[in-house]
Parts: sequence; C-alpha cells; structure tokens
Amino acid sequence: MAIAGDLHGQWDDHDEAVLRHLQPDALLLVGDLADGDGRLGRRLASLPLPAACILGNHDAGRDASGRTMARMDQALGELHCPWSLRWLDPPGLAVVGGRPGSAGGGFNLSQAVQAHWGPLDLLQSAERITTAALAAPEGRPLVLLAHCGPSGLGSAASDPCGRDWKRPALDWGDLDLREALQRIRRQRPVPLVVFGHMHHRLRSGGARRRLLRDGQGTIFFNAACVPRHGHDVNGRAVRQFSWVDLAADGRVEAVRLCWHDSEGVVRAQDDLLSSEPVAC
Ligand SMILES: [Fe+2]
Repeated sequence: MAIAGDLHGQWDDHDEAVLRHLQPDALLLVGDLADGDGRLGRRLASLPLPAACILGNHDAGRDASGRTMARMDQALGELHCPWSLRWLDPPGLAVVGGRPGSAGGGFNLSQAVQAHWGPLDLLQSAERITTAALAAPEGRPLVLLAHCGPSGLGSAASDPCGRDWKRPALDWGDLDLREALQRIRRQRPVPLVVFGHMHHRLRSGGARRRLLRDGQGTIFFNAACVPRHGHDVNGRAVRQFSWVDLAADGRVEAVRLCWHDSEGVVRAQDDLLSSEPVAC
C-alpha cells in the first residue's frame, strides 16, 4: 500500500499519475492536507482506489469554530475514519482511525475538534479507537492510522514523536492512542501504526527516526516527509510516497520511502525496515 505523509497542499496531477502507474492496493493519508481547503478533500475522495484518511491539526485552518474542520470531514466523506473502522476490500485491510485533528502533546482537544465532534476525555477517546479496532474482521491485517503517533516511542527530539521545536525535547506522542494500542493488543496483534505530524526534518537540521519496532512486534511508521514535492539530482520533478508491503497475516515485509517521476519510476529510495528497525 502507498502512504502519503502530511501534504500541506502539495497534491497535483503528478501525484495522481504515480498512483495510476503503480496502482497500490490502498492509499493511506495521515492528515494536514491543505489548511482547511475542502477542494483537496473532494479531490482525494474521488481517487479511484481504496483509501483512508485521518485529519490533522492544520485541517481546521485558523478556524476555531469547527466549521472548517466540518467541511473537510464532509469533503472526504467515507474516506475519513476518525475513531472508526474503515474496511478496505479489496485488499482486505482493516484501517482504524485515531483521534482527528491531533497536535500531539499527550491529550489536547482543540476548540475546532470539540466544536465539530464534541468534548471527550482521554479514556473515552481510547475506548472509541479500541472498540473500532476490535470490530475489525479477524485474521486480516489491522492498521492504526493517526495524525500524531502514540506516546512511548522516545523522548529525544529525533524520536518518531519527539518535540523538536522547543526545549526541552519531549515525548510529544498521543496518550489516548497509546492506551488504545495497549487495550487492542490484549485481544489481537497490531502489525502497523502509521502517522505523521512530526516532520522528518528537525528544526535543528537533523533527521528524525522514522521507524521503530517494539517488543510486541508492532511497527511504528512516521510518514511525515515534508515537503513531498521536489526534484531529483537531474532536476526532474519527483513526488514522495512511502510503500508498505504487508503479508496476508499482517506481517510488515517492507517499508520504503520513495521519490517517483511522473511515470511512477523510483528515482531515489530508502529501505527503512532494513536501516531503522530499532526497538523502543
Ligand atoms: Fe500536524
């Protein structure tokens, strides 16, 4: 399956040409799409392939009333799966969305999120995610899709959810997602958690750790390669997608971060599973 990290408005015909050429089984979008521009939401919702999305903190624009967030939610339609199960069949993949609009930092509900979805506390949020996950068909791969990843992945600025824009560095992951993950894994394995929000390039100029595997075999993948539009060494326009190969039993077999030309050809790539699988 293909994963597009935080778009921040970067989505065009070239991106869609890559998908057309490579035809992934599914596309996952981790939010921060376009600062509340519903036109991109509608465009993504009309893509002719199985897809799922969770909205990010920037998807409210600067509108605390919740109306912009509501428009984005509506524009995406069934693609958007906050606190809910999106069953993609084919390929037979259960995607469960976390809390929408997260800005990380443990558990904080923005005014926009509260206005659109109503107030709830950390445990209620965790329970919603857990209930959705446990409703997924058994024996099929389960992926948790969130805007910010869970807490517990490390407190250094360079960790997958580490705060890098302000000192001291902190674990900036979401506590409700961590709680949900622990509850779900008492009942079934979670092979993959995909998220964005914390960009790969650190404010200090260093690079973020993008992939971790924990002691229970869950792979945590931060897909926030920003910007994801660029040029290769020959000046050719390229677009970034991450690719995850899942076995039928849900085992993650490959995680690659790729840059594609408009024919879909890979012009540069990182094989993250072989280079970054450090246990947390
Ligand atoms: Fe974000």
